[in-house]
Amino acid sequence: MQPARAILSRPTSPAEGPRAVPSVLQIVGNTPLVEMRKLREGVPPGVRLFGKLEGFNPGGSVKDRPALKMIEDGLARGLLVPGKTILDSTSGNTGIALAMVGAALGYPVELVMPSNVSKERKQVVAAFGAKAIYSDPLEGSDGAIRLCRKILAENPDRYFKPDQYNNPANSLAHYETTGPEIWRQTDGRVTHFVAGIGTGGTVMGTGRYLKEQNPAVQVVAAEPEDAFHGLEGLKHMASSIVPGIYHEQELDLKIGVSTEEAYNMVYRLGREEGLLLGQSCGAAYLAALQVARTLRQGTVVVLFPDFGDRYLSTNLWVGWQKVGEARR
Ligand SMILES: Cc1ncc(COP(=O)(O)O)c(C=O)c1O
Repeated sequence: MQPARAILSRPTSPAEGPRAVPSVLQIVGNTPLVEMRKLREGVPPGVRLFGKLEGFNPGGSVKDRPALKMIEDGLARGLLVPGKTILDSTSGNTGIALAMVGAALGYPVELVMPSNVSKERKQVVAAFGAKAIYSDPLEGSDGAIRLCRKILAENPDRYFKPDQYNNPANSLAHYETTGPEIWRQTDGRVTHFVAGIGTGGTVMGTGRYLKEQNPAVQVVAAEPEDAFHGLEGLKHMASSIVPGIYHEQELDLKIGVSTEEAYNMVYRLGREEGLLLGQSCGAAYLAALQVARTLRQGTVVVLFPDFGDRYLSTNLWVGWQKVGEARR
């Protein structure tokens, strides 16, 4: 079967492509939106599904947006000044993003993270010159939050703590960039926005912007269905420290997803759509499909926070190999 012309032709010629920019920080955002054409069983033909590929950010994830915004905000308020170190707790992607922004601007970065985050994450953080401080893996991201608070309390003048869980600049980054990009990329046709919840910054800020453009837009969050899960970056809210920027009443729907189903969806996205994605993407896409199946018409946009090559040393990859072996 010949692939459809529309799939193979490129939307821009090399002459129209991006221009040179003065800093890596200027290529944060403006990520591609790609239509999901094959992996959509049970979704009526009148419903279109699109994935926003945040792995295209220079630090490799959606977290470049809030990291940059929080640092810009800290500089503007005079809270981050020469001589200070950027400190935060992070399950990984925010740490990488802060490490990248800190390196680009010349500020040292220290990151508190559970010691069981993936090897790649630790290596990337180190490659950007940041210092990692490890918390108890059994306490998850909440353990990292508590240890970070303790370090700050012991030496408050030494640090600038962006505090992604409580900093309005986190969701503001999405209100100012992710939301407008999705609105423009769908020509204002988006009817549903679906994203996983970690800090809640993505779903809150993007959702707020889209609802301001069209109050009928439905905002849907995906979360792990129970407290013990393998969906790095996502939080099970009922059993977690609830982030200050997260306001559940602003959501239209929250969908619980199992780790196993999310992993299996990641494997399918690789094989059937040619998209190598991270585990939270599988969770978000399961929720998006669940919503899309209930519609007759609509444009569902799901945010994919990062790419799968960030997880090659984790259980996600073990499962990929098993799927591959079973097919041979
Ligand atoms: C892989 C991954 N997915 C999803 C999220 C959730 O994004 P947010 O913190 O904006 O809710 C994060 C946040 O760290 C993440 O790292």
